Amino acid sequence: MAVQYQNQVTLETSFIRQDAGKIMVELSEILPPIHQLVNQMAAVTIDSKEQKLSYETITNDDEEEVIELLKKTFFKDEPLNEYLQLGECKDLEDYCKKSIPDGCSFKAVNSNGEIVGVFLNGIIRKPEPNDEPVLLASKTNHEKFKIIMQLMDYIDSKFSIFDLYPDIEAFIDGKILAVDPRYRGYGIAGQLTDKTIEFMQQNNYKVFHVLCSSHFSARVLEKMDFTEVFRLNYEEYIVDGKKVLCPEKPHVAARIFTKVISS
Ligand SMILES: CC(C)(COP(=O)(O)OP(=O)(O)OC[C@H]1O[C@@H](n2cnc3c(N)ncnc32)[C@H](O)[C@@H]1OP(=O)(O)O)[C@@H](O)C(=O)NCCC(=O)NCCS
Repeated sequence: MAVQYQNQVTLETSFIRQDAGKIMVELSEILPPIHQLVNQMAAVTIDSKEQKLSYETITNDDEEEVIELLKKTFFKDEPLNEYLQLGECKDLEDYCKKSIPDGCSFKAVNSNGEIVGVFLNGIIRKPEPNDEPVLLASKTNHEKFKIIMQLMDYIDSKFSIFDLYPDIEAFIDGKILAVDPRYRGYGIAGQLTDKTIEFMQQNNYKVFHVLCSSHFSARVLEKMDFTEVFRLNYEEYIVDGKKVLCPEKPHVAARIFTKVISS
């Protein structure tokens, strides 16, 4: 069954947000105004045949297309990247590619074969007692990306997943979550999260850890009953006496969420 909206966006019911429930209602009743605004700004006409999405494991062959999607999305509109106007960043590209070989990253693909959403995950193993921590910021010379890596290092200094879950030897780290702007608001990020949880159940990983820099990704996890285990409000993150990261509301905090997965 397809739904014709006033601005030519045709969506099959399989693609409607799970909580929409009733389909035959005005667009404004089921989608908040921001959805309409974003779609109108992008002058989007989503062809109905594009709407059947499949969810698959990302392989090394997908690397280039994944990076192309991320350059159009995450690099520009992840709240910290947007605030800093990150621009070109080879080091972020490398960071994104790094965990693909772990085999636990997932993509949403439309029926034209285009990747329209990704969740890049990595497997993090417990460090040996004598391992020296490597600072992420020391690995980049990109001035703006370094600011974000410094935030990650700061959070790492304040919060350790292995302290919270002392019995685990490894966990799944949700590193990069991004959905094509045309496809946002329809629960695709949640489906990608579900695929990751399925992988964890099949491979006996117990803890899923995600650091959310965005209110929207935090909403995805809240809706899936993840637990917030750490929060740093951006306005309380001060470097050399200054606030360095002030993304636009509603993105007010970096928050870590976890979920314990039973097999
Ligand atoms: C975060 C992101 C992956 C969510 O994907 P999604 O498939 O749209 O997720 P959902 O459909 O569950 O929507 C999540 C929240 O996004 C917001 N949202 C919904 N539609 C939106 C749209 N068209 N544009 C912007 N935000 C929207 C809503 O707050 C929604 O929460 P709600 O269901 O309580 O209203 C996506 O917004 C994105 O790619 N953002 C840019 C990259 C980024 O910031 N990644 C996360 C970094 S940690």
